[in-house]
Parts: sequence; structure tokens; C-alpha cells
Amino acid sequence: MQLTNFLAAVAVFLPIVYGAPTQAANSLHPEILAAMKRDLGLDAEQAHVRVARELKATEVIEQLKTKAGFGGAWLVDGELNVAVTDEALTSEVTAAGAKPITVSNSLSKLEEAKEALDKIDLPQTLSKSANEAGIATWYVDVTANKLVIEALSASTSQAADLAKQVGLVESEFEVRTVSELPSTFATVRGGDAYYINNSARCSVGFSVTTGFVSAGHCGSTGARATTSSGVSIGTFAGSVFPGSGDFSFIRSVSGNTYSGTVNNYAGGSIAISGSTASGVGASICRSGSTTGVYCGTVRALGVTVNYSQGAVTGMTQTNVCAEPGDSGGSWYSGSQAQGVTSGGSGNCNSGGTTFFQPVNEILSTYGLTLVRG
Ligand SMILES: *[C@@H]1O[C@H](CO)[C@@H](O)[C@H](O)[C@H]1NC(C)=O
Ligand SMILES: *[C@@H]1O[C@H](CO)[C@@H](O)[C@H](O)[C@H]1NC(C)=O
Repeated sequence: MQLTNFLAAVAVFLPIVYGAPTQAANSLHPEILAAMKRDLGLDAEQAHVRVARELKATEVIEQLKTKAGFGGAWLVDGELNVAVTDEALTSEVTAAGAKPITVSNSLSKLEEAKEALDKIDLPQTLSKSANEAGIATWYVDVTANKLVIEALSASTSQAADLAKQVGLVESEFEVRTVSELPSTFATVRGGDAYYINNSARCSVGFSVTTGFVSAGHCGSTGARATTSSGVSIGTFAGSVFPGSGDFSFIRSVSGNTYSGTVNNYAGGSIAISGSTASGVGASICRSGSTTGVYCGTVRALGVTVNYSQGAVTGMTQTNVCAEPGDSGGSWYSGSQAQGVTSGGSGNCNSGGTTFFQPVNEILSTYGLTLVRG
């Protein structure tokens, strides 16, 4: 009966404004219908009605938006609402089958303020200053008849200052708090660089189904992990160093891909197929974001390493070199994951000794599952 209601409504106002109904709404592809059923709960008939109605609404908006006093338009359950700042437009809106809503802020003023904000280099100047600071979005919200700025909590007063800077008064803007800055998505892979709290660099160890593992000295619980381009790839959910190990678990951020591979620093990736630990004398390689790939052999298992921060137990000693920034990176024998880089001595010019944290202890401590490539 929704269809009947809709057709009745069309019959009343269609001849006044639109002319003949368009064909498009009658030809929704079965896959689109299935997705609309899944995501919007609409059956085929409801989907066709909805789309036809929205097409009509677009035509009405096109016609009204050039008129003086037009304040924006939006749909509420298929009904077209049109904001008007001039009462003279009310009857025209009603005649077009839409609902007029009287508002006070001029749409053009809000749009001009928004364009002025576009010219200020906001994301760069604000989001890098601190982890909790940043402006996420700004737009004219026609339903609120305001310019909306979305910001992290530490930046809400800056957001309000910016709105005033572009000429708006309190009644013309609204600052909304969001918990996370938006970003593009990344692929996380063993051996790749990541940054902690936007400063120090480490390397990814291995992807797990809920994020990735790395070294504990790379970050404390709560620290933020990002790619070199600033894409958020997780938050440290657990971190141990020194003491019983040097490991961390960084919980994933949705939208990213956590790949079961390791960067081979030769233009490709190595697929990881398990985590069977190698014994003393076994060949072993590692990938890290400072020096790339180096290989050698396992020298000792269960080593206690006395770092200046304190002793760490359960390390594996190798004769493979590493350097700062390689920390947290992947160790593997063939396609078997072995561990994450902890520390050592020497460097990759003169050679060195490096200790790694065995990966299986990290997986069992946090109940994680390795992603296989
Ligand atoms: C990073 O930020 C978190 C949360 O603000 C903090 O606990 C941590 O000490 C910072 N630094 C490192 C290296 O983890
Ligand atoms: C461990 O290292 C610290 C600092 O490097 C040092 O002060 C301490 O004496 C060492 N422990 C032992 C048992 O030598």
C-alpha cells in the first residue's frame, strides 16, 4: 500500500512540476535490489518506489534551488523537506509536493563560510600537532541549517574559533565531537615501517587476525600506530618490555588489510604459512624498515638479555645484524614465522648480534591467530 500512497502523491503534484515519470526507476538490477534488501530492508516493490520518489525529489530540488530563500533540501522517509528563509517560497514548495521548513540562516552564507574553510590548510596544521587534536570534516548540514565542524575533543575550541574566523556567529555553526580522524586505508605487512604516536619508527612483525604484533619497546599500551603517510593502522592493546619479553599486540583499525606476508625488500612479499620455531644452527632471515633483509643463523634459545632498561627473558640470539627502526620487524625461516626484532649490538656495516622475541609466545599471551599468506 506504500506504492498506492506514493502513486497518489505523484498524481497530485506530478503534472504541476515534472512531466512524465522517468524510466530509470523501473529497471533496478537484481543485484541492486538484493543489496537494497540487505542494507535497507526494502523489498523489490518498496525499492522501486523509493528510487522513483528520490528521482522526483532531485528534480524538485533542481527547480527550487535557484530561487531566492531556498535553504537546502533533504528527504525524511521519502518525504522531501525544503528549508526556506523567505516565506514567499513556501507556497511554491508546497505546490511541488514538498514540505517547507522555515529556517533563519542563509544557505549561501553557510556555503561561503565552508568555502573559506576549504582555503585554510586545516588537516596539516592541526592534526599533526598532537595525537588527540584534529579536525575531521566540515560541511553545511542543511537539516540543521548550520555549518558543522567535526573535531576530536581536544580541537573543539579550535573548530569554534575557525568558524568565527570565517565570519559565522554562534547560531550559524555547530561543533561536533568525533572519536577518530578519518583516513584512507592501508595494507599492513611484516617488515614494513610504522610510526608510534606520529614520531618513532618501528617495523611490523606479523599480521594476526585482529591486528599485528611487534616489539614491546616500540610503544606502550594506548600508543597509536600509523603508516608513513599518517594512516591509522591500530592502537597498542598490549605491550611487554622489559621482563618476560619484548612484544606488543597492536589492535587493528577496520578498513585496513592485515596481510599474511612479509616485505622481502626486493619488490615483493614472502607468504607466511605457520610459526614452527627453528632450532639452534638453523638459517633465519629478517625484514626491517631500516636495513631491509639480512640472514644468518640461530645461535641460542631462551637467552636473557640485560638491556639498560632491564633484563628480558626468552630471547633468541642470532648473528644477523639489525639497526634502530628494524625493531619489531619479522624473523622467518623459510615461510615459518619466528619472531620480532628486539635489540642487539653492532650494525649492518660491521655485522652484529641481534635478539628476537619468539612469535609463538606473543600469540599465546594474547590469544592471537597468525594471518597466513
Ligand atoms: C604514546 O601515546 C600513549 C597514549 O597517549 C602513551 O601512553 C605512550 O606512552 C606514548 N608513547 C609511546 C612510545 O608509547
Ligand atoms: C645489566 O645492565 C645494567 C645497565 O646496563 C647494569 O647496570 C647491570 O649491572 C647489569 N646487570 C648485571 C647483572 O650485570
